[in-house]
Amino acid sequence: MDTKVYYLDEHQDEKIREAADVIKRGGLVVFPTETVYGLGANALDEEACRKIFIAKGRPQDNPLIVHVADFDISDYVEYIPENAKKIMENFWPGPITMVLKKSSKIPMLVTANLDSVAIRMPSNKVARKLIEYSGVPIAAPSANISGRPSPTTIEHTIEDLMGRVDMIIGGEKCEFGLESTVVEVLNDKVTILRPGAITKDMLEDIGLTVDIDPAILKRPDENLKPKSPGMKYRHYAPKAEMTIVTGRIDRAVDYINYKIKEMKSKGKVVGVLATEETKHLYEGGYIISVGSRNKLGLIAANLFDTLREFDKINVDYIYAEGFEEEGLGLAIMNRMKKAASYNIINV
Ligand code: TXA
Ligand code: MG
Repeated sequence: MDTKVYYLDEHQDEKIREAADVIKRGGLVVFPTETVYGLGANALDEEACRKIFIAKGRPQDNPLIVHVADFDISDYVEYIPENAKKIMENFWPGPITMVLKKSSKIPMLVTANLDSVAIRMPSNKVARKLIEYSGVPIAAPSANISGRPSPTTIEHTIEDLMGRVDMIIGGEKCEFGLESTVVEVLNDKVTILRPGAITKDMLEDIGLTVDIDPAILKRPDENLKPKSPGMKYRHYAPKAEMTIVTGRIDRAVDYINYKIKEMKSKGKVVGVLATEETKHLYEGGYIISVGSRNKLGLIAANLFDTLREFDKINVDYIYAEGFEEEGLGLAIMNRMKKAASYNIINV
C-alpha cells in the first residue's frame, strides 16, 4: 500500500481535510496527539476499524479508544455519571480516557466485545481538526506495531507503519510522551486502569474517590487479571533484555557499573538508561540520559524514544535506573516495568 506522508501543523487545513477524507472513505490515518501518535479509523465503521488490528498486528481482544472533538458524547454511551462530567470539565481536552457503558452505535469490534467503551478528547490541535473534519469519532490505538514502544515522533510511526496505512500526518514531538491515563468511571468512584499524565492526586483534587487497579502495581498473572485488556501484554519492549535497578541511586550506579564490566568480559554490550545526574558516573557501555530526575515530565516525554534508540545501537542488555512510583513516576515505572518484562533488581 502507498502511504502518503504529510509533515504539517494545525494551520494546514487543506491537508488535514484530505486526511479526514481518507477517514470518511474507511481508510487509516496516523495522526499526532499530545500523548503518543494514534492510528485512526472511523470508529462507527466496523470494516475500517478491522484494518487497524491488521495494520499493527494487534490482538483482537484488545479494545480501541474512541477519540472525540465534541463534549456531547451521549450518542456513544449509555449514560454519563456525575464523575464523568467532573473529569470532562477539569481535564478534557487532554490525556485522560474514560471507560463508560457503551451504546449500540459503537461496533463490538471496537470494544473487543466488552459492554464498555473507552473515550477521550485529545488536546492536540491537529488531532481535533482531523476528528472535526471527519465528522465521526476516530478509533485509534497507539501507532506502533504491537509490542513495540509507542510512537512519540512522526519518524517512529514511519519506521513501524510505512506501507501499512493510507496516510501519516504530523511532525511535532508528543508533549506528554506516555499514553493517556485510562479510568473506569462509575457513579461512586473511579478506578485507574492505566496510569498516565493525569495522576491519582490530580483526580482526588477535584473531589473524586480514586482506586488503582491492583494489576498496575504488580506483574499481572492468572489471579490478577488487569481490567484493561491491553495491560496484560508485554509491551513497549526493546529488543535487548532489560533490567530495572531500583534502590538508592548511588548503589544502583555501582551495580550497573559492575554489570557493564561483567558483560564486557563476556563480549556483551550494555546500554544504560541513565539520567542527567548520573550519566557521567558510568564506565563503558552505551549511556543514554532520559532526562533530569527533577523533571519527570521530560523523562516521560523521552522514555519511548530512548527505548527505540537502544534498538538502533544494538545493545545486548539494557540496565535502567528506577524512579519513585509516585505522581507521574507511577506511569513512567509502569511502562518501564513492561519494557523490562518485570525484571527488577532492588539494590
Ligand atoms: O494516549 C492514548 O490513549 C493513545 C492515543 C493515540 O490517544 N492511545 C492508546 O491506545 O494508547 P492503545 O490502544 O494503545 O491503548 C488503549 C488502552 C488499552 O490498554 C486497552 O485495553 C484500554 O485502553 N481499553 C480500551 N477500551 C477499554 C475498555 N472498554 N475497558 C477497559 N480498557 C479499555
Ligand atoms: Mg498501545
